[in-house]
Amino acid sequence: MAKTSRLPGFHKVSVQQRRTLVADVTGTEMAELEASLEGGGLEAEVADKFVENVLGTYALPFGVALNVRINSKDYVVPMVVEEPSVVAAASNAARMIRGSGGFLAEVDPPLMVSQVQLTNVRDPRAAEERILARREEILALADRAVPGLVVRGGGARDLEVRSIGAPEDEMLVVHIVVDCQDAMGANLVNGVAEAVGAHLAELAHGHVGLRILSNLCDKRKVRLRCSVAAEDLATEDMDGQRVIDGIVNASRFAELDPYRAATHNKGIMNGIDAVVIATGNDWRAVEAGAHAYAARSGRYAPLAIWRRDGERLVGTLEMPMAIGTVGGTLRVHRAARLALLLLGVPSAGELASVCAAAGLASNLAAVRALATDGIQRGHMALHARSVAIAAGAKGTAVERVAAMIVEARDITVEAAKRAIEVLRGSDVPLPSEESAGGAD
Ligand code: MEV
Repeated sequence: MAKTSRLPGFHKVSVQQRRTLVADVTGTEMAELEASLEGGGLEAEVADKFVENVLGTYALPFGVALNVRINSKDYVVPMVVEEPSVVAAASNAARMIRGSGGFLAEVDPPLMVSQVQLTNVRDPRAAEERILARREEILALADRAVPGLVVRGGGARDLEVRSIGAPEDEMLVVHIVVDCQDAMGANLVNGVAEAVGAHLAELAHGHVGLRILSNLCDKRKVRLRCSVAAEDLATEDMDGQRVIDGIVNASRFAELDPYRAATHNKGIMNGIDAVVIATGNDWRAVEAGAHAYAARSGRYAPLAIWRRDGERLVGTLEMPMAIGTVGGTLRVHRAARLALLLLGVPSAGELASVCAAAGLASNLAAVRALATDGIQRGHMALHARSVAIAAGAKGTAVERVAAMIVEARDITVEAAKRAIEVLRGSDVPLPSEESAGGAD
């Protein structure tokens, strides 16, 4: 939690000044912040202990989304992402949502499912009965595989038996439901599956097949709701009521068409993945869970929808979120540890709500842009900044050069180089810095 996540003018100050501001509002030691970001937070020697065949490391921008308020708490939200405008869009949309009190979040307990596949089960129904009758014994066996987790208050909670396929498939699947506390839980849950597999096969009079977690962790969901006043959605050219109609129309499009739903959800994952990566979590797992959940009805659907409520816009998002605040990458990656520090070292559930808020804010920004000016204007303005930097612009000249090439509708390194020359050599009146798009 931060003192405040509302920092007007943040995008206009230098990287150093931003660090000072963030250290102050989050209560992080400046020395710790700087050391954690050194070299992207990971040295090649450490990376070498982490994965195989290492040659070096690969850096990405580490930014923060502002204005995020969830369940009455403020968060400065770390985001690691290469795509221009994602951080700005999330911050801008979070500011609109903040105007109506922020996000309301509800998070399920951290329950993951360990799957054990049983094959050659001649009589699946009788096998199911035998397994269910030994429920307590199986859960105790599962707990013995994860003693540390049990000490921390987690462990096996439930057992489910599912018969899948046709009778001739002779297949049963047993789910052990495990409370993973603040861990994402993949290793714990895989360990449980391996520990109970042989015993389950014996009880089923069958063979043990695969033993692995399921990434469709629909017992570990996050639900988010927000509302936005029409006047906060208005643009220069469109009043807020028309913007609400446009956003509801965008939502309906995604609800009716899987082709659009995939892109709508990509916009949500822009925000979510950036926080998941910043906090050292497994974004492929979160992605797999999100898309499997989106397709649960048999038809791929949007994870977030938007409706009108009187004069206001209301958004809701529901999706699985397998995410942790202990273990894994966090042991070795200093920038990931810093990300958690900036968030006030949240529980896994609290972090799930922060990820979801970044996702819903990103989605609102995207559908608002699509329902009004179109996405290219904002994207181009921010892309122009990277082009200006690539052409050699530094400091405040970046914004000026970006604004000039946007105005000239020629966003190329050559045009940016010409703009730098113009700035250097003359007293030509400079275009407004605002047109390059702000992130706060
Ligand atoms: C681009 O990264 C994401 C969008 O395509 C999302 C959307 O269309 O809703 C803008």
